[in-house]
Amino acid sequence: MYHSKIIGLGKYVPEQVVTNHDLSKLMDTSDEWIQERTGIVERRHIQKGDGNSTSTMGLKAAKKAIERAGIDKEDIELIVFATLSPDYYFPGCGVQIQEQLGIKTCPALDVRNQCSGFVYGISVADQFIKTGMYKNVLVIGSENHSGGLDMTTRGRHVSVIFGDGAGAAILSRSGDDSGILSTHLHSQGEHIDELSLRGPSTEIWVPELIEQNPQENIPYYPKMNGQLVFKNAVVRFSEVIHEGLKFNNLKKEEIDMFIPHQANLRISQFIQKKLGLGDEQVFNNIQKYGNTTAASIPIALTEAWEQGKIKKGDLVVLAAFGSGFTWGSVIIRW
Ligand code: UT7
Repeated sequence: MYHSKIIGLGKYVPEQVVTNHDLSKLMDTSDEWIQERTGIVERRHIQKGDGNSTSTMGLKAAKKAIERAGIDKEDIELIVFATLSPDYYFPGCGVQIQEQLGIKTCPALDVRNQCSGFVYGISVADQFIKTGMYKNVLVIGSENHSGGLDMTTRGRHVSVIFGDGAGAAILSRSGDDSGILSTHLHSQGEHIDELSLRGPSTEIWVPELIEQNPQENIPYYPKMNGQLVFKNAVVRFSEVIHEGLKFNNLKKEEIDMFIPHQANLRISQFIQKKLGLGDEQVFNNIQKYGNTTAASIPIALTEAWEQGKIKKGDLVVLAAFGSGFTWGSVIIRW
């Protein structure tokens, strides 16, 4: 059986920086509260007219990843696009990227697994490469959150956390022992309503949304039970990392770089402590970008690699948890 390897990484974030102070002008919040509870200092937001959308940010990240992989776009045999904020209701961003890249026909699919989207996407790509069906797969995570957040005090516990951006990776058939060692995925649908956005959907169409429009519980803004999500996240992150390590007969002491989904700096720090890792073994950039959901791991992975923090032979662990609930891990020998 073959296995897969990441041969190119790219990222893109919009230019507009939105600080905690900027948000405190829109809602009753403060830099102190946001930094203390989440570690976030600023995030990027798409600006009206700047030409950015979920697909076009994904395109910019993808182009960089393709260039760094040293392949031709025509070598891509499958596109996997992870997002919770697609440009269109349908079709998905996968086919949009295909069109924007100018690739005539290749399979393109969308993954709807929110904060775990990139981990799920990597796992999908890895399976196709393992079976020998494809050699080069483009995996993208991209989100436009800012267009759909409740920027009033009512939505502050959600809106201050999320930011926009995109990251991408080229997975390719590995010629040696390096690459993806394992992926482990989980979900638990009983918690769907703890972190969700219900409409517009086939359950709640736009006319009903307008009709219902009460002051509370507006279904077209994200809803989150922050404390429950936090409690589940720390448990599931830990479980799924240990599951991946055990599968590969590895110990937590062997981890060189841990790149968690950037949900909340406090969650990352909690996991870091549980794993007994030093500050240089965990990569965090939530301070600059907030939580960019499916884009957070590929943006962080790209930055860690750009800064020379991941070297050949390193054991790299990716892990995510989010809406669904869904969670997963990827163990990589770089
Ligand atoms: O990406 C994966 C999915 N998401 C996550 O992993 C998020 C996980 N959860 C969290 O990160 C945290 O629960 C939050 C950062 C969202 C919230 O922090 P918390 O410590 O759990 O705060 P809380 O929701 O319990 O709220 C505490 C207080 C409340 O006021 P009262 O009722 O104690 O008077 C809130 O109304 O803080 C208030 N509050 C705020 N105050 C200022 C909530 N949001 C804000 C805000 N600014 N933005």
